[in-house]
Amino acid sequence: MRKLAVIHHRHMDWVPTLAAAEPRLDIRGWHPRDLDQADAAWLAEAEGLFCWKLPAGLVGRMPKLAWVQNSGAGVDHLVSHPELPAQIPITRADGSFGLWMARYVCGHLLHEAQRIEACGEAQSTATWKPGLIPEDLTGQSALVLGFGRIGRVIARALRELGMEVTGLATRARTEDGFPVLPSSDAPALLPKARLLVLCAPLTTGSRNMVDGAFLTQGHPHLTLINVGRGELVDLDALKAALDKGRLGRAVLDVFPEEPLPPDHWLWAHPKVTVTPHHSGPSTPAHLIPDIRGNLTRFAKGQPILDIVDRARGY
Ligand code: GLV
Repeated sequence: MRKLAVIHHRHMDWVPTLAAAEPRLDIRGWHPRDLDQADAAWLAEAEGLFCWKLPAGLVGRMPKLAWVQNSGAGVDHLVSHPELPAQIPITRADGSFGLWMARYVCGHLLHEAQRIEACGEAQSTATWKPGLIPEDLTGQSALVLGFGRIGRVIARALRELGMEVTGLATRARTEDGFPVLPSSDAPALLPKARLLVLCAPLTTGSRNMVDGAFLTQGHPHLTLINVGRGELVDLDALKAALDKGRLGRAVLDVFPEEPLPPDHWLWAHPKVTVTPHHSGPSTPAHLIPDIRGNLTRFAKGQPILDIVDRARGY
């Protein structure tokens, strides 16, 4: 039986789930902070690794390592890991994130458009306000930066709400009826945009992509929603844009430092909504359908599929 090591803060949940999905594997798990208690001889024989962040020193203890399965969608922490040799395949899992993140984006957008807070305030004083008309999103422009499996589902949901959706990605194309333009076109599209959704992977090219220059042409009716990675946004530039009316609101689910420190300015900013990195739940039940095929191929000694392109970074 091939061995798969599960080094994960939720290894207690993952080990039985992975074993049920593929019983022909020898699977053992440890919390990353308890690695010194791991069975060194067993680890040295393990060829597969299931993890979220790769703890320092682990790869050196796994000389037979031949496959790393990430327990989520973003692999920035793995592709940039100095200890992980380039030839070891990495795979990701984002099974149902598109749908979850589409709900997140639509929920926060509709919260504004349906004027839910204003209705609540009016209700609190028993005031009937017929002037509280919901905003018409029909024909308004939404930009979805990052047009992979997740971005496409978000785009479809926004289209159903009546919006005109444009994708932004490294490669221009038409996909699913959506125009997809190079990400470098984004700043020029901002003046007409109502919504900018960030769901791009974090790479050397996308780090701090949303900076002061990017936001120059923003306006007070523009909402930014980030479900990708905190490091896509230069937070100083974001603050300047919010304070100077180049952005109306920022809804952030991801941050360069998580958990977001309690004294961070983002918590208290009136134009910022902070959520706890919950837009795409990485639970076993949600991710197993994505991982099962490769688990079985690994167990049978067959080649792993859908491997991350290390040079591209995702
Ligand atoms: C979560 O952020 C993930 O990348 O899966």
